[in-house]
Amino acid sequence: MALQGTFVWLCSLAVLSFSVAQDDTCCSRPKLVEDLSAFLELEGECNGAWSAEQTATILKSLRNLTDVLQKQQLKGCQHAEPKNCTEAKVPENGGLACVTVANKRYCKPMCNHGYDFDFIRRSRVFDECSEQTGYKWQTQYIGGNRLAVCNEARIQVSGAKTAYFPEDQSCITTKSNCTLHRSFVENLKTELKNLGIEGEPQNPCLVCG
Ligand SMILES: *[C@@H]1O[C@H](CO)[C@@H](O)[C@H](O)[C@H]1NC(C)=O
Ligand SMILES: *[C@@H]1O[C@H](CO)[C@@H](O)[C@H](O)[C@H]1NC(C)=O
Ligand SMILES: *[C@@H]1O[C@H](CO)[C@@H](O)[C@H](O)[C@H]1NC(C)=O
Repeated sequence: MALQGTFVWLCSLAVLSFSVAQDDTCCSRPKLVEDLSAFLELEGECNGAWSAEQTATILKSLRNLTDVLQKQQLKGCQHAEPKNCTEAKVPENGGLACVTVANKRYCKPMCNHGYDFDFIRRSRVFDECSEQTGYKWQTQYIGGNRLAVCNEARIQVSGAKTAYFPEDQSCITTKSNCTLHRSFVENLKTELKNLGIEGEPQNPCLVCG
């Protein structure tokens, strides 16, 4: 496929999938995803179809696209109550799951498999930001919005069991799968309730670093 053709193809897929996405329910996969999956399966057969320059150009565009999408993805927890709380940083190699209950924002930092927190936080599942905390994050890092850091680690011992994504299920894998995402949010609400935080949970979200 000629390079220009490829871009036209990618663009039309994008336009198509966005137009489909508008009146879609959360659970249907956009057409773009189906097409990209099919493309990836064909990858072996396409091998050698593009020149070195074409491959590099496409790679560059896809990296750019990844940056743009990731920035968008990171905004997934914005505009939640209480508004006076600044946004918590999302740990790389993990994620941040947040929910508001009774005008208090609770965020749970999580690490992907193969990563661990650098401070012990086994009994500290959620960090809080509320009027009571002066609208600041109660964090183990002095003054700031960083709640946790996920470092490469062979064993995962610093956090609560639920603070790690399973081996075959990273943050982005969980978020991209509607069924998994839903049960993740339900489990998050249950976990808060089990910690004695009663009330109607609002603005649940998961963002991946
Ligand atoms: C990514 O693409 C956009 C739109 O074409 C462009 O404005 C931006 O500079 C690009 N960014 C990088 C890092 O190449
Ligand atoms: C919240 O922020 C707004 C706007 O910055 C400010 O006017 C208000 O006093 C703040 N509320 C509290 C309780 O700090
Ligand atoms: C979503 O996850 C479930 C449970 O792991 C799995 O059975 C299903 O195939 C996944 N769906 C997609 C579209 O990947």
